[in-house]
Amino acid sequence: MVKIASVIGATGYVGSAVVKSLFEHGFDVVRAASRSPANASWLSSLGPEGGVQIMPLTLTNEGGSSLEELGQLMRGSDAAFFCAGFEEQSPSTIDFMVNNALDVIKVAKQENVKSVVLTSSGGSTNPAGLTDSTPKSEVLHFSDPSAQIAAGKISPAAKTLMEIRAFEAVGRDHANKITDAALASSSPRLCIMVPNLILGPQLDPGPIKGNSLPWICKIVKKQRMNESIPNDSMSIIDVRDLASLHVACALNPSASGRYFGVNKSFPWREILNTIAEVHECYVPPPLNEAEDYESKVTTQFDHTRKNSLGVALRDLESTLRDLVEYLKSKNAI
Ligand SMILES: NC(=O)c1ccc[n+]([C@@H]2O[C@H](COP(=O)([O-])OP(=O)(O)OC[C@H]3O[C@@H](n4cnc5c(N)ncnc54)[C@H](OP(=O)(O)O)[C@@H]3O)[C@@H](O)[C@H]2O)c1
Repeated sequence: MVKIASVIGATGYVGSAVVKSLFEHGFDVVRAASRSPANASWLSSLGPEGGVQIMPLTLTNEGGSSLEELGQLMRGSDAAFFCAGFEEQSPSTIDFMVNNALDVIKVAKQENVKSVVLTSSGGSTNPAGLTDSTPKSEVLHFSDPSAQIAAGKISPAAKTLMEIRAFEAVGRDHANKITDAALASSSPRLCIMVPNLILGPQLDPGPIKGNSLPWICKIVKKQRMNESIPNDSMSIIDVRDLASLHVACALNPSASGRYFGVNKSFPWREILNTIAEVHECYVPPPLNEAEDYESKVTTQFDHTRKNSLGVALRDLESTLRDLVEYLKSKNAI
């Protein structure tokens, strides 16, 4: 039987990696949505001839207006991926993430799509008072969206609220416990990927763009983080591994709920020293003598649920080596 998937946000850094990964994991057809299909023709090279079907889709902040387009996109699909999104600190970001995730779930239900995978972000996993040494858990740790909004953290709040409302829509609570058995049994299987910093080569052949690559480019060019190595850590995943985790969620019939899309949290000292190993022109800044780097604990994660998806993750050096090669190929560093 032909295996079909739909990807919303297919032209994005994450979405395009998901498109590629779907073909690597046995899908035959990927319906790839974009607001401007004419500019998305490069997606065709990510699969076999005729495998990528590029379709128009313009989502609004209010949602609701794209149900017909979503229906056409998702009809006959085994799985749907909602990788669209942006990180503007504006209330409309909340509307966009929540309303469109709910529309995707609604249309998946109508069209009998078995699984829906949403791309969220680690901003949803920060309850007040959680220390770095307490391993974060997908089923225990949730940000407070009201506190996030009050603090002006609108984009993370958008992801927190998207998750809460999406779980409600499939008859579950935020910890993925069933709260409405009838709704849960009549809804698509919902998985939510929760990444922090995503690194690795961008598939879009155009200019480097998005949330993470322009920033890391500045670090490699020493326009940022030049004075001293921060005594802090960053939770990282390779974009190709994150895509494989998305696809594993769709393929594994028992996968359900939130999954960290994180390899682990690395100290900046390790990250910057590894960049120096793979990029001969880069010299890390000095340590800050006032800081106690040895005692700093990196953010800890409970990796059990993520590991249950059975995806082998690249090490930091492989990710950074491929990233540096990619940035060089774009004359960006
Ligand atoms: N990159 C990171 O390090 C990172 C980390 C954590 C979480 N995330 C989250 O992961 C998700 C994907 O991030 P990304 O880096 O892949 O973003 P990206 O590269 O900027 O891609 C965004 C995608 O969303 C689509 N899109 C935006 N507005 C749309 C609209 N009105 N209607 C239809 N499609 C629309 C775009 O499609 P077209 O322009 O083709 O229409 C594009 O494919 C986001 O929610 C982001 O917050 C990213």
